[in-house]
Amino acid sequence: SGLDAKIKSKGKKYVGFATDQGDFSKSTDVNILRTESGCLTPENSMKWDATEPSQGSFNFAAADALVNFATSNGKMIRGHNLLWHNQLPQWVKNINNKATLTSVIQNHAATVAGRYKGKIYAWDVANEVVADGGGMRSSVFSQVFGDWTFLDVVFKAAKAADPNAKLCLNDYNINFSGAKLNTFVQVVKDLKSRGVPIDCVGTQTHTSVGGSDIPNFKNTLTTLAGTGCEVQITELDIAMPSTSTTSALLAQQSSDYKTIVSACMGTSACAGITVWGIGDSESWITGKHPLLFDDSYAKKPAYQGFLDGI
Ligand code: XIL
Repeated sequence: SGLDAKIKSKGKKYVGFATDQGDFSKSTDVNILRTESGCLTPENSMKWDATEPSQGSFNFAAADALVNFATSNGKMIRGHNLLWHNQLPQWVKNINNKATLTSVIQNHAATVAGRYKGKIYAWDVANEVVADGGGMRSSVFSQVFGDWTFLDVVFKAAKAADPNAKLCLNDYNINFSGAKLNTFVQVVKDLKSRGVPIDCVGTQTHTSVGGSDIPNFKNTLTTLAGTGCEVQITELDIAMPSTSTTSALLAQQSSDYKTIVSACMGTSACAGITVWGIGDSESWITGKHPLLFDDSYAKKPAYQGFLDGI
């Protein structure tokens, strides 16, 4: 029983949840992770600000806790992430020289991905590098390099550090068709044509109840599969329009989860689905009840929709 067991019985690799150390002392979270999840993504503990808060000084206590919990419970792990403009320490943002930034990226990726070599199913090697309107997102990486080749640096470093992990490019708002999705697909194709190792694409899929992207999501997955990469839904949540819930909204949310999960099931390149949190009260989308379990960790209609979609 459970979501992960059902999706595996249908040939997919996992249903996963975002979590971190604080959850492992709560029986509510632990029970759900054990019964429903086959894969864990560290919600915050592997980010740059957590792992290398000052240059060359690494802190792995929280990330180790996630990896140990996953390993001892037989769960896969999605590493998240090696390069991102958010939760990035100021010392990295202050670098204005390409040679220095190159070696800083290489050292960070080698150290973090190297520590967990052989234990990570897939790494979000780079996160949110596409601008919302298409093109390159402004960041220290894009500014100092002036082009996309900072991606070559981090993907090659990740490959050297953990050759068997699948290496992903991850982004949000690529669940909609449009300029951002087009740029994302082009970036992946260009990486491949330059011989840069990339295996997977992640669509975060933070979306909203009744969202116009949802009926079209199967087409989006087909577009992403057109890169030739494995596709993963990496951070799924479906927020209510406000903090109030009604039975009609809960039913719509359930139907929306079913539509998204069905789209993955109907796309052979789609390997797995991660939900971005366990109970609604823990979600980063504060108060908007976007997850599968309510504030008391009871299954919501959204859970049944997810299950029915598999
Ligand atoms: C969020 C976490 O859920 C929060 O706890 C944290 O305060 C901010 O980051 N895109 C991502 C995730 O790739 O890492 C973000 O996670 C949500 C948006």
